[in-house]
Amino acid sequence: MLTDPQFDRTRRLASLLAGIELVERHRELLSRRSRRLGIRDAAGLDTLLGAAEAGDAQARRTFLSLLTTKFTEFFRHPAHFAIAAAHARGVVARAGRARLWSAAAATGEEPYSLAIAIVEAFGNCEPPVEVVATDIDREALAVAERGEYAEAAVRAPGPERRARYFEACGEPGRCRITDTIRRLVTIRPLNLIDAEWPVEGPFDVIFCRNVLMYLEAGRRAEAVRRMASLLAPDGLFMLDPVEDPGATGALFAASAPGVFSRRPAARLRLGCSGAAEGRF
Ligand SMILES: C[S@@+](CC[C@H](N)C(=O)[O-])C[C@H]1O[C@@H](n2cnc3c(N)ncnc32)[C@H](O)[C@@H]1O
Repeated sequence: MLTDPQFDRTRRLASLLAGIELVERHRELLSRRSRRLGIRDAAGLDTLLGAAEAGDAQARRTFLSLLTTKFTEFFRHPAHFAIAAAHARGVVARAGRARLWSAAAATGEEPYSLAIAIVEAFGNCEPPVEVVATDIDREALAVAERGEYAEAAVRAPGPERRARYFEACGEPGRCRITDTIRRLVTIRPLNLIDAEWPVEGPFDVIFCRNVLMYLEAGRRAEAVRRMASLLAPDGLFMLDPVEDPGATGALFAASAPGVFSRRPAARLRLGCSGAAEGRF
């Protein structure tokens, strides 16, 4: 179990590096994760914390991997993918191309589900659509880059999609996303609290599901405001169905659970700040 001084250092680093807010109940979780990462004792954790505090890049990556929750799955909340793909079709019909962003892509299941839904909605393998996939955790993005998953993970898309969009990867019990789907997805690291984001808008759809809840309230609101400013005027902002934009709610109008449209620019300029920022 993390000692009090270790937990304090971990909290400070989590806030500094990722804007993540840790509370007491995370202490046990972090202890389990550090054991899984091969950190066997207090001295091992002190070494990691010391190196991360000193700015060592690899130590910081390991620390972020320890810190972040990467639970995800293919077609998590399936309706969202159908809505996003239908929206992309409308945009392409009007403007010729569409761009979507999965802003907490974790190990890739979400952006690849989006790419599959798009291929199906367009009925061809080369739709004029780009899916940008970003995450703070480079280890998770390396998994997304490889695009290899356990057979159990690809059950959710169903047997037909398994057969069509995944192929053998030479390892028993695992398979790989096909190049057809892979090439629609651009993967790059992005920390939602960084001043510079290596992505350019506008996006027609932004998925930001199951990440804002980990961020400190002010960071959350700021990230949502920036994402809203990168949305096309009729763009969609997707949260998990149980999430809502909270204090930044004035920026959006809800159209289904977890699905929000950007309000017109006049409302956007109002922004939202201050006292109401209890949630996000
Ligand atoms: C629970 S996963 C969500 C995956 C997917 N969006 C979904 O809903 O299934 C949360 C992801 O947020 C990422 N994350 C946490 N803090 C972040 C930050 N400051 N910037 C970017 N990504 C962050 C984590 O690395 C993790 O992959």
